[in-house]
Amino acid sequence: MLEKIFRKKDIHQMLTEAEGSNDGLRRNLTAANLVTLGIGAIVGTGIFVITGTAAANYAGPGLTISFLISVVGCIMAGLCYAEFAAMIPVAGSVYSYSYSTMGEGLAWFIGWVLVLEYLFACSSVAVGWSGYIVSLCEGWGIHLPQHLSYATFDHTEAGWVMTGSLFNFPAVFIIVLVSTLLLGGIKQSAFINNIIVVIKVGVILLFIGFGLSYIDTSNWDPYIPANTGSFGEFGWSGVLRGAGVVFYAYLGFDALSTAAQEAKNPQRDMPKGILISLLICAVLYISVTAILTGIVNYKDLDVAAPIALAIDRTGSGLAWLSPFIKLGAIAGLSSVILVMMLAQSRIYYSISKDGLLPKFLSKIHKKSGIPHRATFLACVITSVFAGLFPLHVLTELVSIGTLMAFSIVCISILVLRKTQPDLKRPFKTPFVPFVPLLGAGVCIMQMLALPWGTWVRLIIWTLAGLILYLAYGQKHSVLNKSSLKK
Ligand code: ALA
Repeated sequence: MLEKIFRKKDIHQMLTEAEGSNDGLRRNLTAANLVTLGIGAIVGTGIFVITGTAAANYAGPGLTISFLISVVGCIMAGLCYAEFAAMIPVAGSVYSYSYSTMGEGLAWFIGWVLVLEYLFACSSVAVGWSGYIVSLCEGWGIHLPQHLSYATFDHTEAGWVMTGSLFNFPAVFIIVLVSTLLLGGIKQSAFINNIIVVIKVGVILLFIGFGLSYIDTSNWDPYIPANTGSFGEFGWSGVLRGAGVVFYAYLGFDALSTAAQEAKNPQRDMPKGILISLLICAVLYISVTAILTGIVNYKDLDVAAPIALAIDRTGSGLAWLSPFIKLGAIAGLSSVILVMMLAQSRIYYSISKDGLLPKFLSKIHKKSGIPHRATFLACVITSVFAGLFPLHVLTELVSIGTLMAFSIVCISILVLRKTQPDLKRPFKTPFVPFVPLLGAGVCIMQMLALPWGTWVRLIIWTLAGLILYLAYGQKHSVLNKSSLKK
């Protein structure tokens, strides 16, 4: 049994799959597509919602520094992702990388954690989208009944309760809509994503450009408000906690690596896609935060729609921008769902191709060239979670799953540099071992800072995965048929 857990997939076999036979996934994505897919996955709830609450509760205007700290951690992981995505450009991302470096057992575990990340990221953003639509409709005088637009269950101090609501139907609506788009093929999905990205980045740039002249610099004084006496409430500890909170805003660049097998020139373009999209988003986030906290005093920013509040505060000055911001937010959330759903389906596809999940999930549709059954499965599972549970329950697990994936990527870079030093690396992470070690260290520290309850849920998720692996995956692994490579 131990032999099975530690058996590795031959990296050269993976490369052959990625380069040649390619089993139906089509190489349609250009470098520009990859950058826009990256931005599509990254810019969402983080900038349109979390910025306000994080400034109001932890860092004040100093949240710009939090964004800077957080992006440094992400860039370390991003550089490691870039090395892997260029070296092993297959659809499974970290799952595939660890299959070739650390063995089947750990690969299954990380694949299972990636499912957790993308499943909960998708469903949480869909619930956020639903909330935005409900409030937009309210603004137009249309009242969507609560029992049809809110979660069935909630977790309160008293434990799990029924909310009295039937199901969150708007959340399911956006998931089904996005899945239908994805079923049309990667080219169509990339095209729609491009349009959405132009809209959301355009709206953000309008806010930055026109907001500049409404900044009242007295709102930046003090830039880092004094600590209240509790760790994480303003002061430098608040800036650090802010960095942990806004980490969520950068998530998504990793999802891009699951599209490596559909990129025209992954060796050259994947590193560009990952790093450029991350940098563009960092510049946008820091600029928006600076302007937001310059227009509105940070103490007033603890609201669900901080950018809308900043616009209100300009009086009639920027009122014309308000509907565009709403449009930008709705568009922004839609493309995050799109790329995360794409990533989720590619993970199911990759795991199933290796035999660890039922084989039918790796079937590629002849016409659209995408794993349609895996996409359908992702749609059904995500809809169930998004319909049943509220936002705070869903977001909890996203970060721990992502941080775990990032740490494993960073460590795998070190392992592979040692075990396979001669492999062709079209992109090399600089300053090894410094960058991967620091990247892994930062991620592990952030994981340790998460509440115990999140760890308990991760352990339950892992145990469920272990049972599935022992009952199904290990018996059906395609490596059973080939000679074992230890
Ligand atoms: N980065 C994504 C967002 O902010 C998850 O919505």
